[in-house]
Amino acid sequence: MSASTIRSWVIGNWKMNPVQADAQQLIQNLKQLLQHGPIAEQDCQLGIAPVSIALLPVREQLEDAAVKVVTVAQDVSRFPATGAYTGEISADLLKDSSIQFVLIGHSERREFFGDGPAVVADKIKHALAAGLTVIYCVGESLEQRESGLAEQVVLQQICDVASVVKQEQWSNVMIAYEPIWAIGTGKTASPQDAQSMHAKIREGLQQIAIQAGNSAILYGGSVKPENAVELAACPDINGALVGGASLNAESFYQIAQAFAKTK
Ligand code: PGA
Repeated sequence: MSASTIRSWVIGNWKMNPVQADAQQLIQNLKQLLQHGPIAEQDCQLGIAPVSIALLPVREQLEDAAVKVVTVAQDVSRFPATGAYTGEISADLLKDSSIQFVLIGHSERREFFGDGPAVVADKIKHALAAGLTVIYCVGESLEQRESGLAEQVVLQQICDVASVVKQEQWSNVMIAYEPIWAIGTGKTASPQDAQSMHAKIREGLQQIAIQAGNSAILYGGSVKPENAVELAACPDINGALVGGASLNAESFYQIAQAFAKTK
């Protein structure tokens, strides 16, 4: 499979937003846009990652959308199954609620909640064992980029989890490259820098396993309609993980259209 035949994904990461009424309106607006201008699944697949208490209502509200929009959990417990882990939601419980997708290793989890390499590896292991599809987030800080360490840091983050992914499970893993300095800052990596990092990630994945080389690699960090077309044109950028701009249905839709048209 060449990079260009990998299916595109555009996933909205709502983070700790919005209140219920706004979430309902947002989905309603998105459904209307998709009704009038459907985006074919083979051109670009869509996902929304709401707060955990909204996973089920959002999933239900999306059920009658004109095209499939999957519901994505923003995180998962490092512990499997069920048990005495107050406040946690395991991969098995997500699966039990028909939530099939999960973000793991987002830089905000790494920074504020202590999700280090061992924790993200546990989360990925249990999510894949439960049959979920994982969007594994990696990315370097500004300091690391300025010291020339960006590639090393990102490839290390991939290596941190490689040993817990079985060869046949790579088809259930996507990577989201999100340079930390570009998240929520309005600064985006240039398409050239993003493409170059994506190509390195692809190379790194291919060295781990042939199957891993076919994983979709999404870009994240201030993606908006104004920069989506250029990013989507890069051969190794197979989609986007969109934060701020996903809180506006029109912007999110336009980003998805950019990826659908280019791929
Ligand atoms: P942003 O967030 O688009 O607001 O930069 C992206 C993310 O954190 O996933």
